[in-house]
Amino acid sequence: MAKEIVIDQIPKEFTHKKLGESCSGECYETKDGRVFKKYKFPIKYYQSLKSIADFYKCNHLVLPEEFYFLKNMKEENFIGYIRALVTGTTFAHLEDNVEMVKFIKALEFLEREMVANSRRSLLYVDMNQDNLFLTPNNEIKVIDQDLYEIIGYHPYIRPVPDSMKDLASTIIHVFFTGKEFTDSRIHDNIRKCGAHIGGVLRPSQLLSETSEILEQDCGTSIRTLGDFRKGLKLVKEK
Ligand SMILES: Nc1ncnc2c1ncn2[C@@H]1O[C@H](COP(=O)(O)OP(=O)(O)O)[C@@H](O)[C@H]1O
Ligand SMILES: [Mg+2]
Repeated sequence: MAKEIVIDQIPKEFTHKKLGESCSGECYETKDGRVFKKYKFPIKYYQSLKSIADFYKCNHLVLPEEFYFLKNMKEENFIGYIRALVTGTTFAHLEDNVEMVKFIKALEFLEREMVANSRRSLLYVDMNQDNLFLTPNNEIKVIDQDLYEIIGYHPYIRPVPDSMKDLASTIIHVFFTGKEFTDSRIHDNIRKCGAHIGGVLRPSQLLSETSEILEQDCGTSIRTLGDFRKGLKLVKEK
């Protein structure tokens, strides 16, 4: 279970080095090499975040480990949490030399774990390119579960396909934006992955099937993300 800890003030070791800031809060690397997320104002979803941290542990989710309260444990005094620091690159900065096969394997693993968690009602949202990391061991790690929800019976939210579409939107944004592609099979696959209700094609399949199409169209083998990006450029409308 994630710990709940009361403090009088935020220790200065917690705010050692600033990593990022948004409207809701700031993230810092702590002096002992973890991450402290500090809120600027009280949040309303503490119980949900605590349940997610306790019930959905798995390899890819970098979850809160210690929750901090100022003065007493009232929810309105929840001030921030600690989680592990992730090394590697965010999906916004994936390097060209990453091996395609390893990246697709990592995505498949992530998708399998996501399906397992979503079958237990977890809805993944906010899997944007700054919240997804590829580590030096070619594992995908996901930070920032603030907006995730646990969905009981709901007339139109379906956690498994809706979570997968959230990941699909990031994969499509990272690799496929820009001009039209000359090969209509690529458009069809993007639609099957991102637009169809139920996500007919998983993001990992979108990448592997597109690799095959590019190998046919360009006559070269696609070994790395750099080859993949180059191939996509070649099959774009001029
Ligand atoms: N555990 C972590 N490991 C590495 N970098 C992190 C970690 N947590 C946060 N960051 C950095 O801080 C940024 C903001 O953190 P995040 O929790 O996503 O907050 P926000 O609500 O501002 O999106 C991230 O995009 C990332 O660059
Ligand atoms: Mg974020």
